[in-house]
Amino acid sequence: MCGICGAIGNENQISTVVAGLKKLDYRGYDSSGVAYLQTPQNQLCVQKSVGSVKNLQKKLEKNAFSNVVIGHTRWATHGNVCEKNAHPHVSSSGRFAIVHNGIVENFESLKQRMSCDFYSDTDTEVFVNLIENQTGNTLQKLQKASTLIKGSFAVALLEVGIDKIFLAKRSSPLMVAFDHRGCVAASDISAFAGRFDCCWILNDNEFAVLEKDKVTFFDQKLKKISIKPIKIDEYDFAEENLQEDSFMLKEIKEQPVVLRNTYFKYFAEIQNLDWEKLKKFHAFHFVACGTAYHSCLMGARFLKQFCKKNATCDIASEFRYDNNIFVKNCLYIFVSQSGETADTIACANLVKQKGLPTMCVTNVPYCTLNNLADYVLPTFAGKEIAVASTKAYTAQVFTLLVFALRLANLDCQEILKKFVLNLQTTQDLDSVFKQIEKFKKIFFVGREQDFVTALEGALKLKEIAYIGCIGIAAGELKHGTLALVDDETLIVAISTQKSLKEKMESNMLEIKARGGKILLVSQFKHDIDVDFLIKLPDFEEFLMPIVSIIPLQHLALHFCQSLGYNPDKPRNLAKSVTVE
Ligand code: M6R
Repeated sequence: MCGICGAIGNENQISTVVAGLKKLDYRGYDSSGVAYLQTPQNQLCVQKSVGSVKNLQKKLEKNAFSNVVIGHTRWATHGNVCEKNAHPHVSSSGRFAIVHNGIVENFESLKQRMSCDFYSDTDTEVFVNLIENQTGNTLQKLQKASTLIKGSFAVALLEVGIDKIFLAKRSSPLMVAFDHRGCVAASDISAFAGRFDCCWILNDNEFAVLEKDKVTFFDQKLKKISIKPIKIDEYDFAEENLQEDSFMLKEIKEQPVVLRNTYFKYFAEIQNLDWEKLKKFHAFHFVACGTAYHSCLMGARFLKQFCKKNATCDIASEFRYDNNIFVKNCLYIFVSQSGETADTIACANLVKQKGLPTMCVTNVPYCTLNNLADYVLPTFAGKEIAVASTKAYTAQVFTLLVFALRLANLDCQEILKKFVLNLQTTQDLDSVFKQIEKFKKIFFVGREQDFVTALEGALKLKEIAYIGCIGIAAGELKHGTLALVDDETLIVAISTQKSLKEKMESNMLEIKARGGKILLVSQFKHDIDVDFLIKLPDFEEFLMPIVSIIPLQHLALHFCQSLGYNPDKPRNLAKSVTVE
C-alpha cells in the first residue's frame, strides 16, 4: 500500500509534502519520511519516523527549507516496521532518493546480481540502486530500471543537483497537479487538499518530470505525450470535521444521511445507464475484497431474488488466479470503496483482456477502477476515513439493491423513501454491550442475507477489537464449529427473515444445549429464551441487511474502545490495499 507525495516550487515545499502525507496516511501509518534537496547547498537530506506523520513532523527541523521534496507514508510489506525500512530509500552512492508504493516482485533475484551494500530489508532499496546502475540521464535510468522490475510501482525520484522530480507508474495510482506555486504529485487526489482545480492521472507505464513551473509527461518509450486533465470539483475534502470521538462513530452515524443522499441522487444518476442493454445480460459475476465482497454477496442475492438472474461472487485474490470459465453475456461487477484495491483492479483488467463487459461500484471519484470499467455505479457515502468500512458498506448494499430493483422493473420508490427518511443509528445499546464485553469467544450466525451480515459483523469485530471471531451460516454450526461452543461462548444470532425464523430458533436451541450464550439481533419476537437481545426496527425484509449491520458496527466499536484501542487505525491494516 503506502502513499507517496512530492512537491516542487519556489516556496518551501516541506510543509506541502507533510500536509499531503497526512491526507494519505489512510494508505498506511507504520512509518513516514521525506527526502529533500536542501536549499541552497543542494544536499540530500532524509528524515524518517516510525508511526504517524505527526511523529515525522516533530523530527523535522523548524528551519528546514527545500524547493524539491518527496515523501512517503508506509504500510509495511517487505521488512518490519522500523526507521531503517521506512521510505525514502537512498542509493548506495547517496545520489538518488526514492519513494515507492507497490511491490517489486523480483527484488531478491535483482538484489543477488547487485554488488552494492543494502541497509534495509525493502524491495524499494533494490529499485533505487537499480536506477543508479543504469546509463543515460535520470529519466532514462528510471525508465530502464522500470522495465527490469516485475510488480507494481508508483515512484517519485530525486537526484542530487537536479531541481526536478521524476515519476513512474505501473499498477499503483499516481497523479499530478500544478499551479503558479509549483507542482505536486501524489498517490491520490486527497493530497491536493482543495488547492487545485484539476489534475493529471498517469496511466500504466507512463512517466512524468516535474519542474517548478511545468510538468512533462512521457510514454514508455520516453516520447512526450499529453494527458487529458480531470476536473476536481466534487470531491469531499471535509474530513477534518470530527465532532465524535472517532471517525468510525461519525461514519456509523452518517449512514441515514448517506442513504438519503444515495436515494435522492441515485435515480438521477442511473438515468444515464443503458438499461435495455443491462437487462439483456444473462448472468452477473461480482468480484471484490473484504467488506466490499460482503456487499457483493448481498448484491448477488438481490439480483437472484428480484431479477431471477444467475448471480455469483468471488473474492478478488482468488478470482485472479482461478481457472475461471469466462462466459459471454455475463456482466462482471467490481465493488470497491476506494476503487484502488490491487486485487480487484487486477481482476477487472483480466476480464477486460477477455473482451467482456465490466461495471464498477465505487465510492471515490476518479479512481482507477472507474477508468477501467464500461459502466460506473457511484456510491454516495462521502469520504470514509476509518479503516473499518461502515457507511461505504451500507451505501454499496443500498446501491446494489436499487440497481436490482430497477433492473427488475420493480417500483419500490415509496418503500425506499420511507426507509431512508426513518432509519436511525442511535439505539441505546450500552447496557447490552456492557453485559457482553467479557466474552472473548464470539461467533456470528445467520442464514441467507443474515449470514452475509454475520460475516460482516465478525469482520468488524476482529478488525478493530482484535477478537478472533468468525461469521458462519447457522446451518453449518453442527458441521464443525459447534465443537467450540461452551458456556464462555457468545453467539450473535441474526434473524431478520420470517420464513427462516423457526430454522434460526432450532439453531439457537442447539447452541443453548451446549451452554453457549445468545445475543439475538432481530425485529421479531422468537419463541425461545435468549440471554441478550437487540430489537431491530421493522422494515421490509430486503432492507433488513442495512438495519441489522448497524448495531453490529456499534458492537465492534464498543469492544474496541473498552479494550483501549483506536478504532480508526487498527494495527497491521490500512484503508486502501493497493498491493497484492
Ligand atoms: O476499497 P475497497 O472497498 O476495495 O477495500 C476492500 C477491503 O480492503 C475493505 O473492505 C476492508 O475489508 C475493510 N477494512 C473492512 O472494514
